[in-house]
Amino acid sequence: MHTYTESNTKGRDAIAHPPVALGVTYEGRDPELLERMLPHVDYIEVTLETIAEIRDEKVVLSDDVMSELTSLGKDLKIVVHGVSLSIGSHEGWAPTYFRLLDEFMERVDVAWHSEHLGYTKVDGQHLGIMLAMPKTEAALDMLCERVVQIRDRYRLPFLLENIVHVVPDSPGAYSDAAFLNALANRSGCGLILDVYNLECDAHNHGLDVEEFLAEIDFTHVREVHVARGVEHNGFLLDVHSQLTHRSTVDLARHAVDQAAGHAQVVVYEFMPEAVPGLGRDAIAAELRRLRAALGN
Ligand SMILES: [Fe+2]
Repeated sequence: MHTYTESNTKGRDAIAHPPVALGVTYEGRDPELLERMLPHVDYIEVTLETIAEIRDEKVVLSDDVMSELTSLGKDLKIVVHGVSLSIGSHEGWAPTYFRLLDEFMERVDVAWHSEHLGYTKVDGQHLGIMLAMPKTEAALDMLCERVVQIRDRYRLPFLLENIVHVVPDSPGAYSDAAFLNALANRSGCGLILDVYNLECDAHNHGLDVEEFLAEIDFTHVREVHVARGVEHNGFLLDVHSQLTHRSTVDLARHAVDQAAGHAQVVVYEFMPEAVPGLGRDAIAAELRRLRAALGN
């Protein structure tokens, strides 16, 4: 597996490490877990689709989860991380997502919001998976127009995240990093750098992580993600079911160093389905370990 090794981070200890905050995903309905995580984090990342439910045939936010989130102290920042906007669908994005976001923002102070740089539907058909964008001028123009609309609508920083490539890339005009740089430069969006996704792409498709990191413009990186999945039939999945691997934390630390003054938070992501297997105490211990490893 191609990973960012110790030799790649040579000299990092000589760099004064800026304090970076720590965040974690929380999808509600597990107050015991929340209580264990809160002492270790400064940010909670909320995915609206996972806290939504269907009521009277309408998708709405769960009142129970909303009351959990609105009762959190003011010191804790909340960021929204969507999964269903499908910003890259040629026929248009999913309007339901904006209804949820509007409702959420009316009730909760949000520091910023974000989505994944990809698409989940084609010609109105849901794919059941998220696919990465073709890195063409046409795709870039379409995305930039949409980002500008989102930024105008919410007047909050909006970030897009590098996702894993489930299938190999179609030929494009840009490298992965150059596409993200151009998107951020032209549209004014910020970036989430998911370093575990980079490791998946390296493992599955031979992405050169060092080259990517040498090319990405870290001044746009506001958030860094860490996670870990499992390998299935030789394919590394971004399933977010495990505690992080050391190589991922090394990469996150490198990213935080490079994005000093820009990256504000490292978020550890895991799915609620992983909690019984991992255990709440192990998740709290992971957050402690990450905080120490990231130097804050
Ligand atoms: Fe992520």
